[in-house]
Amino acid sequence: MLGARTQGGWRALRRCASLPRAVRLRVREALGAREAADAVRVQGWVRSVRSQKEVLFLHINDGSSLEHLQVVANPSLENRVLTFGSAVEVQGKLVKSPHRKQNMELQAETIRVVGPCDIWSFPLKMKERHPLEYVRQFPHLRCRNNTLGSLLRIRSEATAAIHSFFQDNGYVHIHTPIITSNDCEGAGELFQIEASSEVRESAEKTHFFNVPAFLTVSGQLHLEVMAGAFTHVFTFGPTFRAENSQSRRHLAEFYMVEAELSFTESLQDIMQVMEDLFKTVTSTVLSRCPHDVELFHKYVAPAQKDRLEQILKNKFVTISYSEAVEILKQASQTFTFKPEWGCDLQTEHEKYLVKHCGEIPVFVINYPYDLKPFYMRDNEDGPQHTVAAVDLLVPGIGELCGGSLREERLPFLESRLQRLGLTDAYQWYLDLRKFGSVPHGGFGMGFERYLQYILGVDNIKDVIPFPRFSHSCLL
Ligand code: 4AD
Ligand code: MG
Repeated sequence: MLGARTQGGWRALRRCASLPRAVRLRVREALGAREAADAVRVQGWVRSVRSQKEVLFLHINDGSSLEHLQVVANPSLENRVLTFGSAVEVQGKLVKSPHRKQNMELQAETIRVVGPCDIWSFPLKMKERHPLEYVRQFPHLRCRNNTLGSLLRIRSEATAAIHSFFQDNGYVHIHTPIITSNDCEGAGELFQIEASSEVRESAEKTHFFNVPAFLTVSGQLHLEVMAGAFTHVFTFGPTFRAENSQSRRHLAEFYMVEAELSFTESLQDIMQVMEDLFKTVTSTVLSRCPHDVELFHKYVAPAQKDRLEQILKNKFVTISYSEAVEILKQASQTFTFKPEWGCDLQTEHEKYLVKHCGEIPVFVINYPYDLKPFYMRDNEDGPQHTVAAVDLLVPGIGELCGGSLREERLPFLESRLQRLGLTDAYQWYLDLRKFGSVPHGGFGMGFERYLQYILGVDNIKDVIPFPRFSHSCLL
């Protein structure tokens, strides 16, 4: 019997019994087949060619798995354009492979080169393990490299797992706007949107939307609107920040997962969702793409597998911002930025804290009031005045998630917005506190930083499908 994923293929075979064409299988289906089959067609790109006197071996891959399908052929089928990188269609018999390491192989009857590949100018080379820095120069071709292939399959599975996590827990998915007039984080890291100059001249308008418009830095404020009707909501979409994207953990365009929960009075509830999201999605990815993840844990970040398994078993640690500052002050290490209550935690501080806590994820809660955006809930403490904010710090990366309880009390919010001169711009936001306001909170997780962390990838540019503006190609 064939595996469940191939049964559709075999039904098709029966339906097409009178047709001359063989049943088409993806490489993954062919590799997972439990029985031999006489007439099979597989399409893909050649990953290796080895010609011996009596037999020709090919490995082909179509992106459905890390493992290639071995094709065994008569050397007479070899031809000049059947090279590494070429696109081929192979038809023949699927048989049990005599090799211990592979289940099935394809005995070719015909090999058609669909698209040849000039191996001399093709930047990827047969059997070479190209470093990530090398393939980054070829954003249009690097997805044909094993490491990037695995990364993009993992990214796809993780995306699905994030959606499932929220849908399974009763959250409603919201498409929050990409073009918006609000600067949620108030950090000014905005990309402004305008129509091209030709459109502007003909419309005689200052701004295309009559008001300044920006690419979103966070869908949070829109999610807060929706949490006022659906209780639990989430969004997962592109986010833009005009900040230094040359760092190993910053991008100008990245994906953020955000959740917002109404009727929530405790920061611990928000932290529990962050931890559950991290653990559930990671376990799903580990079980759904074990070979792809193994590639990273073997060649990119050895030891990450054991660390991750430990992390999945244990509870994340929580410390307050004030405790964090004390830990930093007592550190024997000297920092470039002197730790001081009221100052932002720098990457060097975050790294130290995570190390101090045993290289595991650490929640830091209750940050200084003056450091955080206007929407965070006042803890009404003192003399060190804090808000109910939380950052989740992880080894090697620093901040993975940021969240808070939101200020749901109208007078508190009004006076804060007034002091910031933002009252007019945020009338609609104040309305949410006038019409059925409830305690609520939420968080955002950077998707690329998540992938970097679980796979142990050093540079954030290596976990996105297209590295922007690399020297060779402005994709
Ligand atoms: O901490 P941030 O700025 O939080 C917010 O935007 C909240 N409004 C989210 C919310 O509560 N709904 O961003 C959230 C996360 C960060 O912890 C980080 O992982 C990621 O987004 N992030 C970036 N990732 C890559 N490149 C950048 N330039 C990033 N800036 C933030
Ligand atoms: Mg943050």
